[in-house]
Amino acid sequence: MPTETGTSEFDVEIDRTNTSSSKWDKYAGRDVLPFWVADMDFAMPSFIQSAIAERLAHPVLGYTRTPDAAVAAFQNWLKRSFGWDVPEEWLVWIPGVVTGFNLAARAVAEPGGSVLIPTPVYYPFLSTPRHAGQDSIEVPLVSDGDRWTMDFDAMGAACRTGTRLFMLSNPQNPTGRAYTEEELSQLAAFCLRHDLYLCSDEIHASILLAPDARHVPVAALGPEIAERTISLYAATKTYNIPGLGCAVAVIADARLRRDFRRAMAGLVPGIGPLAYAASTAAFADTSDWTTRLTDYLRGNHQRVRDVVGDRMTPVEATYLAWIDLTDLGFANPAARLEDFGIGLSEGADFGGSGYVRFNFACPRSLLDRGLARFQDALARLQGSQGAGASPD
Ligand SMILES: Cc1ncc(COP(=O)(O)O)c(C=O)c1O
Repeated sequence: MPTETGTSEFDVEIDRTNTSSSKWDKYAGRDVLPFWVADMDFAMPSFIQSAIAERLAHPVLGYTRTPDAAVAAFQNWLKRSFGWDVPEEWLVWIPGVVTGFNLAARAVAEPGGSVLIPTPVYYPFLSTPRHAGQDSIEVPLVSDGDRWTMDFDAMGAACRTGTRLFMLSNPQNPTGRAYTEEELSQLAAFCLRHDLYLCSDEIHASILLAPDARHVPVAALGPEIAERTISLYAATKTYNIPGLGCAVAVIADARLRRDFRRAMAGLVPGIGPLAYAASTAAFADTSDWTTRLTDYLRGNHQRVRDVVGDRMTPVEATYLAWIDLTDLGFANPAARLEDFGIGLSEGADFGGSGYVRFNFACPRSLLDRGLARFQDALARLQGSQGAGASPD
């Protein structure tokens, strides 16, 4: 919402020092601007803050069962947003999406089993098979310069007898793809053909930037794929409350749900009352918050594109740009860029050596300072090539 001065609520730079912010404290004492971990430098909407304050007005923050209001808000959100009706019994509430995909891998693991993962991908995917005692099969996504897609031939060839699970990030972190219904139908058919379970992390489902981007829950495509899918959702990205972990696994199949719950036993804590209050308010939100947020992010995306050009493909969803710096010849370009005062995520951690991930969810003034440093760094690093720079 533009203010009277023509600025936006998202233009406000908020000082996050003394909040133990992971994003900012990483570079404490150094002049490095952080554009790495996926939290936004925006204030949460006031209705979320009010919901938390209202719960906090009660002086006992005891162990909390899932509130009926949270269930109803989540079910209505799925229905309103994607036309998907799910019964309450399909829902398993968990404190985080990362927890959810690790549980999924453990729930379906078998001795000698493996997990298929298209890369690059949000880096906690990559250690998930190992945590579940499974092998990891990483298959690169392919880019035509305009968008990244799954390579079904390569994935089919990589599948083994014991391959149990496919891990999907959709919208895709870090490439920013919002897969189309056609691509997801192809994926559903692939999982059925190869007898794979599917774990679909859809945490960025509401952050759609491209005008024609639409989020399709892959499990909503039909009963056959629903029966073998664990879909994961959270409101924490869209409303910038990632420090109040609350997520939902949607699991249609009763046996798969039982195995998922068994994997939780004794390990996964309950969700706290403030987190429930915040996520309930978020799922119940019918204001124009998401529209205002994505409008602003679209503007930021354009600014990043103006500087980065075709080193990145257009971001259809998420607030993350995946930037190709392979021509610089560094295996760890993010580490080099820190010397120029800019803190990005290292592509190698996502399975994309030579790339960086740029989180552009911040006030424009901050973004512009970061982009100026980025541009300067690129010019210097390109200029230093062949002049004694030592690629790592
Ligand atoms: C694709 C994806 N999944 C999961 C998460 C984290 O989810 P949670 O904080 O609920 O574990 C992130 C955070 O950046 C993400 O980008």
